[in-house]
Amino acid sequence: MASYQRVKGTQDFYGVDIKKMRIIENTARTFLDKYQFTEIKTPIFEHTEVFARSVGDESDIVSKEMYTFLDKGNRSITLRPEGTAAVVRSFLENKLYASPIACTKWYYVGPMFRYERPQAGRFREFNQFGVEAFGVDSPLLDADIIASAYFLLQELKIEQVKLKINSLGDFASRNAYAKALHDYFSHHIDTMCHDCKRRLASNPLRILDCKVDAHTKTMKSAPKMQHYLSEESKKYFEEVCQMLDLLKIDYLVDDNLVRGLDYYTDTVFEFIIESDDALNGLAICAGGKYATLVSSFGGPNMPGIGYAFGMERLSMIKTQQNSWGQIDTTTDVVVIGLDEASKREALRIANILRVNQISCEVDYKNTTLKSQFKLAERLEARFIMIIGEEERLNNVVTIKDVKNNTQIQVTNDTLLKYIEELFL
Ligand code: HAM
Repeated sequence: MASYQRVKGTQDFYGVDIKKMRIIENTARTFLDKYQFTEIKTPIFEHTEVFARSVGDESDIVSKEMYTFLDKGNRSITLRPEGTAAVVRSFLENKLYASPIACTKWYYVGPMFRYERPQAGRFREFNQFGVEAFGVDSPLLDADIIASAYFLLQELKIEQVKLKINSLGDFASRNAYAKALHDYFSHHIDTMCHDCKRRLASNPLRILDCKVDAHTKTMKSAPKMQHYLSEESKKYFEEVCQMLDLLKIDYLVDDNLVRGLDYYTDTVFEFIIESDDALNGLAICAGGKYATLVSSFGGPNMPGIGYAFGMERLSMIKTQQNSWGQIDTTTDVVVIGLDEASKREALRIANILRVNQISCEVDYKNTTLKSQFKLAERLEARFIMIIGEEERLNNVVTIKDVKNNTQIQVTNDTLLKYIEELFL
């Protein structure tokens, strides 16, 4: 038999692991509903330019991580490495900016693809839960977006998280800062890593993101963004921080937070795990404001802001922090048939129960009573119904309450009522 293996960096989800992903997804959906986000679903692949143009040619994502291929019509197609660019594309293509609603607030859930080196919490196919909001240029919106992520993490019962924020300033501030960094690092570049050397010419801001040189004296003495912010950007950032204070949200202003995607301006943020093991520093959510992304796609001059959570990372951290609580893996009822005719009757009864919202399983094979009880045990059935010749002749079902270890007989006519009362 040929033995196929999943592609490196991908995962199969089943059993309790898929339940965990669903719990995260459902919690996020229900919670973000309260913030008036509505769902958007964009395609999993887009024309390559959608990402190349927005995320930035020099970003790691575009320069080395995209799954890009030519389709049969010779078009360059890319499996989405992130959600923001696709959402902006959709916002413009569907002319939703023309809507009179002041602010469009969307969330999305789904798989993203990046050719990264797989390691704990880093995959080549992973799932994000993200939000984007368009149309309002206000520190109140920035603070509210950050608040939604902060309080969602509380709702998900994830602890030991640090929120880092920074301002990259408006375009002019960013350019002035990039020039200052270029001048500064030019004097030290000989001692720096290969990636830093490349970034010096293409995007000096990204040097601050370097993991290799992160703790060097050169890096620590580099010019700070806050000294290059325009008065307007400074005031904007102060107002975001004041609002976060009012919301009693803990945060740390981190000058070195620049983010790996080029579209950000002004507010940027990341939620990272603080622990004393290898997961320390792992980002579970990241985002920021993008003032010119919409217009760079040919749309109106309209800012946007958003973030994305890595769902596998959330799941992993919840498991590590032991915060899942009881995950329901049980089945309400297993119906056992003791002979061939009784098995048919078991299947009939099972379907009546299922259409009445009771989860139910039967044994399809001609197995022994013992193995049918084993099935009930494996499915953690709360009740086992037993049907044999005697039950069929008398129009009754024997019901075993597994937890209390009791057993009674109920007539077919009253079975549904009896069961419904048990589950109410
Ligand atoms: P990002 O920082 O590239 O931002 O990704 C957001 C989150 O996705 C990360 O913090 C991490 O939790 C998760 N993530 C990223 N790469 C991987 C991976 N290879 N394996 C597992 N999880 C991963 C963005 O994607 C932006 N689009 C966020 C945003 C939305 N900014 C504005 N709006």
